[in-house]
Amino acid sequence: MIEIGADDRTWLLSGPTSSYALRLTDRDELLHLHWGPRIALADAEALAAAPTPPERPFESWLDGREEYPVEGGPRFVRPALSVRGGGVRGTEWRFLRWAEGADGELQLHFTDAVHGLQVTLSYRMRGDVVERYAVLLNASTGATDLEVLRADSATWTLPPRERWRFSQLHGRWAAESRLVRSELTYGERVIGSRRGHTGHQHLPWVELDADGATEEHGEVYSCALAWSGSWRISVHRLPDGAVQITGGSGHDDSGQELLPPGTAIATPVFAGLWSDSGFGGTSRTWHAYQRAHVIPDADEVRPVLYNSWEATGFDISEEQQRALAERAAELGVELFVVDDAWFGARVSDRAGLGDWTPNPDRFPGGLGPLADHVHALGMRFGIWVEPEMVNADSDLYRAHPDWVQHHPGRARTEFRNQLVLNLAREDVRNHLWEQLDALLTGAPVDYVKWDFNRCFTDAGWPGEPYPQRLWDAHVHGFYDLLDRLRAAHPTVAFESCSGGGGRVDLGVLARTDQVWTSDNTDPLDRLAIQHGFSQIHPARVMAAWVTDSPNTQLNGRVSSLRFRFVSAMAGVLGVGGDLTRWSAAERAEARDWVELYKEIRPVVQLGDLYRLRDPDGGPCAVQYVRGDDVVVLAWLPAQAYGQETPPVRLRGLDPAAAYACADTGAVHRGAVLLHHGLRTGLRGDLDAAVFRLRRLADVTDAADAYSGLAQS
Ligand code: DGJ
Repeated sequence: MIEIGADDRTWLLSGPTSSYALRLTDRDELLHLHWGPRIALADAEALAAAPTPPERPFESWLDGREEYPVEGGPRFVRPALSVRGGGVRGTEWRFLRWAEGADGELQLHFTDAVHGLQVTLSYRMRGDVVERYAVLLNASTGATDLEVLRADSATWTLPPRERWRFSQLHGRWAAESRLVRSELTYGERVIGSRRGHTGHQHLPWVELDADGATEEHGEVYSCALAWSGSWRISVHRLPDGAVQITGGSGHDDSGQELLPPGTAIATPVFAGLWSDSGFGGTSRTWHAYQRAHVIPDADEVRPVLYNSWEATGFDISEEQQRALAERAAELGVELFVVDDAWFGARVSDRAGLGDWTPNPDRFPGGLGPLADHVHALGMRFGIWVEPEMVNADSDLYRAHPDWVQHHPGRARTEFRNQLVLNLAREDVRNHLWEQLDALLTGAPVDYVKWDFNRCFTDAGWPGEPYPQRLWDAHVHGFYDLLDRLRAAHPTVAFESCSGGGGRVDLGVLARTDQVWTSDNTDPLDRLAIQHGFSQIHPARVMAAWVTDSPNTQLNGRVSSLRFRFVSAMAGVLGVGGDLTRWSAAERAEARDWVELYKEIRPVVQLGDLYRLRDPDGGPCAVQYVRGDDVVVLAWLPAQAYGQETPPVRLRGLDPAAAYACADTGAVHRGAVLLHHGLRTGLRGDLDAAVFRLRRLADVTDAADAYSGLAQS
């Protein structure tokens, strides 16, 4: 809902618990008024009427107060917009008009007379999440191209506070989304990706809390960028203690582009959320927002999948995949995915990437017979692809060596023996569309795991004048391909993978059904990765596999099936071990875990997440609540002698209700679970447990003891 002040220059947007307000001055400066608890229009107008801060030597009266600081004029903060054309640099805008777009979107239109540039700033409330983006239109009647040096999606302004703490999700390959909190001192903290994809190093998300928020209490601001290419977010603590967060696509000059007369560009969405219910409440609102507005068909639970990568690597055959599929079906798996090496001359990572036809030695009849077999076993059938890449040793590269990103006369850097196709080129996009469409038409494929296994290094496009629209155009090309494939094959689901979690963001989540969280499938390491992931993204998209023990992929850790399953059951469960080596007893146990997961799946994937204890080396636990159903997953990494595992206090329950636990037979009072907690009975090393609780209609059934699982 948009509310407008009496003079048509104050705007107020409100969600269920929060409001966002802005004000246009008589000099057409667009000032930030409020982002925080829900307020009335009269409050916004009172803020608008507040006296301008006194002028201070060497300080700008605009810095820290503007909605979208442009380059030029009395500004010293990082500009969100930097443009040049006709020998003039910077922007000096006049307000044109405001409009209400679809879904209550507030659009504010400005124009720069010198450049003939129109800038539209858009704001849309989705629940309590504010979606912001900008559109630039070269409306000049002349022939001058405008050069856009930087166009961020938005600048967010946070109020002055004594202390600010900054949270980020940093990492690297196989160790993604590590949550780190640290004090925000004065100056700028900049995170981003210079890699052409979102990157393993940072999720495009930042979180700020003042005055020491906790998991369930306190004021938290957070912002997330919907973009899958290079990006940059700057968090600036200003001299007066206020904070501005500016972010958008592109890093350094990679986002530069020319805007010829009559053309427009839109930035990706930069979404922001204010919450006063701590880190947990903030995460739950982000999760609900993504399920309601971002992720396709998010109210449908995701199937349990089997993926063959860790079992078979590059050494695959139809017969072997059939055998794995049979074992997977016995376990209750619902989707069987053949990973790498089913196509071209792909017998190692040295050859075949780019040639998307089944390897005739390995699949003489194509993929159809295996797909039919998988379907006959009652599962859906999926394949792995990596369309944006080629091996130099591939038919595609031999035919079109100019289709990869490169600079003339320079080395073509290989990572994992592969080069990056230039998706900015229309012929490349058309070729990929034809290949992928034919693949999905030629065999009954239900699922595509879309991988991306290296960063950009030689991002050149010979023959194209500078600035070459290569970095952004690649991402748009990737999005267009996915959108087109989804439209043409609406029953096919897609997974975003980039060597694990190298492409996880709100942009890719708008067009994929789940993401591969990390190549690290060690169940203990995963707890920290999943903890970070859950700060922003819901369990509904977080794929997690149970693999072999000792862990073959990374660290050789030995862990029980119980620990591996309970770790992976915190997201979208998958199985990725070599099932031909699992004993009959292991397979029988795995079948029981899969069955249990299917029972709790709607609560895990669609419910509200409460992080009960963080994975900081000691016991940890998460809880999901959906209607009357509650699921608790608890893990104990190691137990010191004489150290008892403390009960975990549950959250989000009705204290006046009673809850029956299907796993212990106990009936608990809600108030007792909330205040005294649930005894988990975990002991020893790498122990784990699942508790299914259901709210009872009648509280008199509840035992009054502080009961639960006896600790023997
Ligand atoms: C990287 C992915 O993260 C793995 O799961 C697997 O698909 C390999 N690529 C295949 O090359």
